[in-house]
Amino acid sequence: MCGIFGYVGKQNASKVLIHWLEKLEYRGYDSAWFVVWNTSWLQLVKSVGKVSYLTAKSENTLVADETFSYWIAHTRWATHGWVTENNCHPHYSENEKIYLVHNGIIENYKELKDSLVAKWYKFYSETDSEVVAKLIEDSWEWNLLKTVEKVLPTLEWAYAFLFISKENPDEIIGVKYWSPLVFWYSNDKKDLYFSSDTQALAWVVENIIFLDDWELVHIKSSDYTIKSEWKLVSKSAEKIDVASLKAEKWDFKHFMLKEIFEQPKVLNDVFRWRIDFENLKLNKAGSFEELDKFEFDKVVFVACGTSYHAWWLGTYWLQDLAGMDSSVEVASEYEYKNIRVEAKTLYVFISQSGETADSIEPLKYLKSKWAHTFWIVNVVGSTISRLTDSWMFTRAGTEVWVASTKAFTAQICTILILALYFWEKNWNLWRQKYRQIIQELQKIPGIIDELLKESEEIRKVAQEIKDYKQFFFLWRHLELAVAYESSLKFKEISYLNSQALPSWELKHGSLALVDKDFPSVIFMPSDFLYEKNLSSIQEVKARNGKILAVSNKKIDSATWNVIIPETIEETYPFITAIAGQLIAYHTADLLWRDIDKPRNLAKSVTVK
Ligand code: AGP
Repeated sequence: MCGIFGYVGKQNASKVLIHWLEKLEYRGYDSAWFVVWNTSWLQLVKSVGKVSYLTAKSENTLVADETFSYWIAHTRWATHGWVTENNCHPHYSENEKIYLVHNGIIENYKELKDSLVAKWYKFYSETDSEVVAKLIEDSWEWNLLKTVEKVLPTLEWAYAFLFISKENPDEIIGVKYWSPLVFWYSNDKKDLYFSSDTQALAWVVENIIFLDDWELVHIKSSDYTIKSEWKLVSKSAEKIDVASLKAEKWDFKHFMLKEIFEQPKVLNDVFRWRIDFENLKLNKAGSFEELDKFEFDKVVFVACGTSYHAWWLGTYWLQDLAGMDSSVEVASEYEYKNIRVEAKTLYVFISQSGETADSIEPLKYLKSKWAHTFWIVNVVGSTISRLTDSWMFTRAGTEVWVASTKAFTAQICTILILALYFWEKNWNLWRQKYRQIIQELQKIPGIIDELLKESEEIRKVAQEIKDYKQFFFLWRHLELAVAYESSLKFKEISYLNSQALPSWELKHGSLALVDKDFPSVIFMPSDFLYEKNLSSIQEVKARNGKILAVSNKKIDSATWNVIIPETIEETYPFITAIAGQLIAYHTADLLWRDIDKPRNLAKSVTVK
């Protein structure tokens, strides 16, 4: 989804603004622009493509020193209309007096547009956002705030807007309904900011106000007021540890590779919070206290994309370890099911960004039905993280790269800890196994370090496979989540087609696709199904198919091998998942893909 940013102050923000937009670029990078208004003149700078293209164009942005100026900016992920300069924001009124930036989707924009066309308004873009600029003009009440408050209730669905108007030269308005928007200011209140999320914060301040739905901030000169549902309210600012938001690429070629190599530290951080390795038991402070108050006999997991894949491991671990019933729901479909809320069921939502609209909707629905909800989220202050009272942060730190890596392993780690919690709660015979898993978890960061040392070896295998166009990703039992997630990573950045399926499902039809040009990647650590996976390899080989085996053992019958370090059955997914990430990374890098800005994607999908 798009990233919007606003600044009010006396700095010549053009340079820093580019920096802020770059911090939001993971939200969409089809085009970028900004407009600056200093009450006497307005300057508009826009460019199709990455924020960096804006740098050259903004060099001669003139701002007289010591004057107050109002900056609104945008980086786009196209929802309505092609990636063209016309569809680039900002959108403005026909009289070019009102300018806005928008993150979200106005579902009823067509009929609103038709009513304006009937009044002879002309449109230069295909976007829903331009319609709102013309609506403000058409409903003008000689006052920006009054007009915005009149127009907003006529809009259906999701938005975060920033408005400026030449009629009210020293004002800027930020408003939120569904799409995320945060407001913050410097300690001396000389600099005031808006942003789609906290990612752009790392360099500035601590006084942050997370806006809720129907909340509006009205800045006049350097004073601001907040309204909720059109009534004035006072809202206190929060302090957050901005240091944890800092994300640097260091000397890694890509953010993806940097975040892959961060995983040993990330898992150490997650363990430090959750596990008492000395006494081989969970550290139950915080999150579990809330759960302790209730008896659950089932867990329903709800999520999208990578987070949805992580859940699949949860069902196996809960079933196999805690003997607990569980199911996984794709969030984008869940709300259209006739959900019967069960009192002894815990509904657990997982999200890296905490802003995924497809997950927020069913969560709000279940909350409205008094269901027991619990979330596992990575981004502090995100919408989901402010929706329910029992939760766990995945503590993977800021994940900048568009597709997810370290957040996935932090998620599966947090899910395993949830399974261990229910295991402890429904105590059964396997204490020995419980302690063995906790002991092994302590070794996992070191084992991942060992695997990361094989990165260049994995690159040699990627060199072998990069010219094939189609792939199967095969799995059994716990490797389900790893195969689906690795296949998604592979597609997201290499743009090669891949499909994940259980290795024994091949013979039920998909085997027809196998030939010398259709390799299969099989995740087969030496667990209780190892022998069965060997026979799947024979099936593929018998049709001239090629096999890339990811295992702790060298498989002679495989065409290529990625050898991973040893661990135990329950913890192999931590290792095979990272092997899958490295296979995807090196294949895409050898194909010269723009890894940090994969086409058509956005980090958090805040529209449905
Ligand atoms: C993963 O690489 C993608 N970025 C995407 O599938 C993502 O996992 C999905 O959109 C869910 O996002 P969330 O975890 O932030 O809710």
